[in-house]
Parts: sequence; C-alpha cells; structure tokens
Amino acid sequence: MERQWWQDKVCYQIWPKSFKDSNGDGVGDIPGIIDRLDYLKELGADILWLSPVYKSPLADEGYDIADYRGIDPRFGTMEDMERLLAETKRRGMYVVMDLVVNHCSDEHPWFQKALADPEGPYGKYFYFRKGKNGAPPTNWRGYFGGSVWSPVPGREDLYYLHLFCKKQPDLDWENPAVRREVVEMVNWWLDKGVAGFRVDAIVNIGKPERFEDFAPDRPDGLADCRKMLADPVSRQRLHAYLGQLRDEAFAPHNAFTVGEVFDTDPAELALFIGQGGFFSSMFDFAAACWGGSPKGWYDAKKPGPDNYRDCCFDSALRAAGVGFLSNIIENHDEPRGASRYLPEEAANDPRAQKALAAVQMLLPGLPFLYQGQEIGMTNTVFPSIDAVDDVNTHGEYAAALAAGLAPGEALARVARWSRDNARTPVQWSAEHAAGFTAGTPWLPVNPNYARVNAAAQQGVEGSVLEFYKSLIRLRKNDKYKEVLVWGGFEPVHQEQAGLAAFVRAGGGRRLLIASNLSGEAQQVELPGAAKEVLLCSDGAPGLAGDILTLAPWQAAVVELA
Ligand code: NOJ
Repeated sequence: MERQWWQDKVCYQIWPKSFKDSNGDGVGDIPGIIDRLDYLKELGADILWLSPVYKSPLADEGYDIADYRGIDPRFGTMEDMERLLAETKRRGMYVVMDLVVNHCSDEHPWFQKALADPEGPYGKYFYFRKGKNGAPPTNWRGYFGGSVWSPVPGREDLYYLHLFCKKQPDLDWENPAVRREVVEMVNWWLDKGVAGFRVDAIVNIGKPERFEDFAPDRPDGLADCRKMLADPVSRQRLHAYLGQLRDEAFAPHNAFTVGEVFDTDPAELALFIGQGGFFSSMFDFAAACWGGSPKGWYDAKKPGPDNYRDCCFDSALRAAGVGFLSNIIENHDEPRGASRYLPEEAANDPRAQKALAAVQMLLPGLPFLYQGQEIGMTNTVFPSIDAVDDVNTHGEYAAALAAGLAPGEALARVARWSRDNARTPVQWSAEHAAGFTAGTPWLPVNPNYARVNAAAQQGVEGSVLEFYKSLIRLRKNDKYKEVLVWGGFEPVHQEQAGLAAFVRAGGGRRLLIASNLSGEAQQVELPGAAKEVLLCSDGAPGLAGDILTLAPWQAAVVELA
C-alpha cells in the first residue's frame, strides 16, 4: 500500500468551546488554541482536528452551521483562523476542520429561503414532505429522540426532515446543486490551508428512494431512523456522493480526511479507507458501541478493560492490510475513556490511565487524543438534569423517564454516557476555573481539577501527561517508526483476563506491548526472547527467563529478539 504523509502523525481533537478561553467570556476560542500550540507541540500532536468553529446558533454546539465560510464570533474571527493556520504551519502542525454537511442550521440562509418558498430552488436543498393522515410522513425517530419531522411554520401538513435536532435540517444530496455547494466550500477551505476534514455523520447523506415506515421499536411508537442506512439505494447514493467529494475536492489537495462512519460492513471497509478510498481513515467505534442498547442509554452496559481490548483487537485485525483506522478512547460525543473502560475504582488511578494509553497509542492505525485525555480527565458530576447542556442527554433522559425510571435513577443512568462529561473545560491548572477562563466557564469545570490538571503534570515524571509524551516519542522514533506505524499486528494471550498484549512486527523488529489492565500483578509468557525494555509506565517490569511480570496496572513495551 502506498505510504501517505499523514500515517506517521499523531492527531489531537480540540473541542473549541472548552479548550481555552482567551478573553474571559467563559467560552473557549481560537486565540486560546493558538496560546496552547506550544503545549500541543511538546505533547507530540501533529494534526489538530477542530470541532466546528463556524457561525452557528450552537443548538448542537456548532454541529448546526449557519455559514460554512464564517467563524462564529464566540470563537473568534477569520483573521484568528488564518493566524492559527500560520502558527500551526510554522510549527510543522496541521489543522483539520469539521465537515458537517448531512445537515446545516435552520438559520442558514439556504433553509431560510427554503422556508419562504418550499417549492422553490432552495426548497430542493432539503426534504419537504406532506404528512400522512394527519401525522408526520414517517415514524422515524431521530438520533436525539422524537420524530425526525417538524412542521413547516405557516404551511398545513408540510414537514421538513432532520435526523438530528429540529434546528438541523437535512440537506438533500440527491440535488446536484447541494453537492456543488459542498465541493466548492471544501475546496475553498483546502485552498485556505486546512489540511483536511473530519467528516461528520456522513453515512446519513445516502437516503432511500422512498421514505417509508419501519416497525416501531420503542414504546414511543417510533423506529430508529438508522434503519434507512441499510437500504441498498441509500448505500449506492452514499458511495456516489463520497466518490464525488474525493475526486473533486479531497484527492486533488492530497487532504487528510477521517470519516465518522459507524456501520460499514467488512466488505465496505476497503471502499472507505483502502487505497484510493473515500477517506484517508475512519474512526474505530467498536469499543464505543459495545454494550449499547436499542432501548437507550439508560439500558446500556458499562464495558470493562477486556471488552475494550477485544473490540480494538478485532478492529485492528479487520483493518490489517486494508487501511488505517483512527483509534480513540473518547471524543466529544462519548464519556471519558478512563471512566468508561476502567473499573470504577481505577478510573481516577493514573497507573490505570497509563495502561489504557499504551494500548490505544501503540495499536496499528492513527492515534487520536481528545483534549484532556492526556492528563487523565474523567467523567464529571451532574447535580440535576438542569445542569446538563447537551441536547442528546436530554433526549435520553426523557426516554429513561418514559420507560418508567424515577428521575434520580434516570439521571444516574444517563449521566454516565452524557456528552457533557467530555465537554467540561480543559483543566490547565489548579487556579480559578482550572485556568480555562478568567471569567465564569460556560459549563462548570470538573470538581477534580485541583488534583487533575496539566500544570501539576507538566515535566513530572510518572504523570499521565509525561507518559503520553513518551508513547508518542516512541511511535515517532526513527528506530521504531517502521514497526509501530506500518508494522503488523498480532494479539497474544487474549484469553488472559485483564491483559491487553500484542506484537507489532516490521522493519526487522518485533515489539511486545503488554498492558496489565487489572489491579493484580500478572505474568506474561513472552512470545520470543526479550532484548530490551523500551518503555514502562511505572518503574520497571520483572523479567525472568521467558516470563514478564507486570505490577498492577503496569504497561511495558519490550523489544523481542
Ligand atoms: C456527530 C457529532 O460528532 C455530534 O457531536 C453531532 O451532534 C452529530 N454528529 C450531528 O452533527
């Protein structure tokens, strides 16, 4: 497979609203990001993915775009954006924007014009449909709960489609004018100097020929809208649209793209991320999907370290020889990885966080860190449902109440999965508001900030932050890059509970990565003679003959002869 410029890079996701506030208004902004570029460079991040900073009413925190070529004043100005591009370039870093084009905002001029004249040219940018017997056109439930159809104000029996919240009308990609608008906008940003895009919710752009009811799957009488994704016409259309984006925008710029793709079947993987595929990479959500329930978050199961390991290993094997998956333990839509995958009593233990880090960072594929992950940020606490900002959590809370749960129990169950867990401000220091803002943060900081913060870890041996740096240095080290970036992958001792161990082989080297994801010491039979311990999360592992002994939550990288 031909090598690509982005394959040996480390990516870092910034959720701008909570990254760093430069002007004291409590909202993170682009100058705040610029202010922390040296920190990110020192960490080893190369590609920065910015969640949306476009002009937006922020109904879904920027995933509802009102102007694709404008920066929201809360995040800064276009001059700030240009300065960010220049400052990253100067440091040999890259910026990747979020491409949100399954839908836009209801405040986008396209939708405003469409509402004024649903039968006119802009009406054809969206899905307007007549109702059915006094009800919406179909019984589909949106991603955030409730019907995907909302009535068009002032028009009897006319509805528009929104798979997400009602302020996010879906764009009709069957209309060539919509595709042209998107291609031109993407090229405009690439010409400006962004290196590529993270492509939001993209599988949803392929819609079926006809909108029809599905069998209801919850007491609300609705059916999950995702069922339409399996339709062969939806799929065909999706592939055609993505091919056009690749050919007319991404490929000519040699852009880096990473798709938010949840549901490829194995046969499709090569189409998406193989040589000449639609995207450079796509996220591996296998571990994030584990334990999910069709009933809703209130019914989801908490995974353990072995589930995390098994999901990652399966994905790595599936992608072997095909392409690069992007590995995550968390993002802005998920709870914090440490809280999710580690047992409750270990979630705040830096040793356990480092053991998880070693697995994620050294798997085959592209590592993506999410802001705050590198200092071991964990889930926050929600005193009441009113303390939750996230639209998705409110939908899931309503589903929990509808299922008969008492309010306290409903909150406790959905809080574990709330997207706000990852959206609390980054904990820079133990100062006011965790050093995020001089003002009042838009979302309260996690109360653990006095203990968990970047200042307390910077330069401190054994800290989570310094361990992430060592992992990244190892991955980039000229001696090991060949094996860690492009080498093969083989799981070992996968039957051993609480152990995640694998061999990476390539460039004449074999490395064993062994992470003790348990609170008990573990012995690991070496799959070859040990040559050198390259890295250890805490102290040194025990090595005697062909047995490696790992202390509780200890991770080690051992070069094999
Ligand atoms: C996926 C994004 O990551 C999420 O934050 C957003 O709510 C939906 N897509 C809709 O754009």
